[in-house]
Amino acid sequence: MKGIILAGGTGTRLHPITVSVSKQLLPVGDKPMIYYPLSVLMLADIKEILLICTERDLDQFRRLLGDGSQLGVHIDYAVQNRPAGLAEAFVIGADHVGDDDVALVLGDNIFHGYHFYDLLQSNVKDVQGCVLFGYPVEDPERYGVGETDASGRLVSLEEKPARPRSDLAITGLYLYDNEVVDIAKNLRPSARGELEITDVNRNYLARGRARLVDLGRGFAWLDAGTPESLLQAAQYVRTLEERQGVRIACVEEVALRMGFIDADQCHRLGEQMSQSGYGQYVMSVAREMAP
Ligand code: DAU
Repeated sequence: MKGIILAGGTGTRLHPITVSVSKQLLPVGDKPMIYYPLSVLMLADIKEILLICTERDLDQFRRLLGDGSQLGVHIDYAVQNRPAGLAEAFVIGADHVGDDDVALVLGDNIFHGYHFYDLLQSNVKDVQGCVLFGYPVEDPERYGVGETDASGRLVSLEEKPARPRSDLAITGLYLYDNEVVDIAKNLRPSARGELEITDVNRNYLARGRARLVDLGRGFAWLDAGTPESLLQAAQYVRTLEERQGVRIACVEEVALRMGFIDADQCHRLGEQMSQSGYGQYVMSVAREMAP
């Protein structure tokens, strides 16, 4: 399975912070926001990753992540200059996807929870159609919303409905079989001129090929698109990290635990940042896991 991180957009809800900097490079706790979606793809064992961002931000993402080889993955870059919709990721990324299945994750979405690794592993194998991840929220009208029947089967999908039929938001992590590329290429732009991901998902749903996985209450899903939600996300991450002494979305640790790099390589990555608590943590994880 291939991976795409969509990290474009204008970040207008965070102006003036994002006038000169990509939203997805802003700090959430002690690391850049993009580490969170990157670690999601890595936990799903995805090593071929396309990062889509604006031309303005390309060099900064490259400086941060390079070609990914230090983490044992391969990161390519592509440009989306106008936010023409989430589904455009599959048009821009068609060559990257090739004949494979693909996971799309939004660059400002943060996922954290017990058994997330197992959940990802069990869903990335043999996707057949599309897999969406639902999460109960208080304000579903702000999101794509999924409605399920009594047996938990997905029956309807709506984008930001004024009167939501359920409280299940569709989160910014989507798994698709290869058909998604053709579906996206043939999609008509919505009234607001965008290739909507919800239209892609409805196409799958209409053919009985969309599945919803409920992340449930014991899970955290945050997006960090406004000053309030950015602060909330940072507080959440910091509280957990301080309490438990472990770090969320430490990509070097994820690479080590997934077997993408060995303990020596991980330790060297930590050494390059040894003046920060984050770098110290990377080195300590490497020491703990050394054979
Ligand atoms: O966060 C999950 C939600 O994401 C879903 O529930 C919705 O169904 C989905 O439409 C989307 O809603 P948003 O209102 O969050 O979409 P937004 O336009 O803010 O875009 C989400 C992120 O993707 C944002 O960080 C910017 C980036 N983006 C967006 C568009 C439209 C791009 O990189 N390119 C784009 O063309």
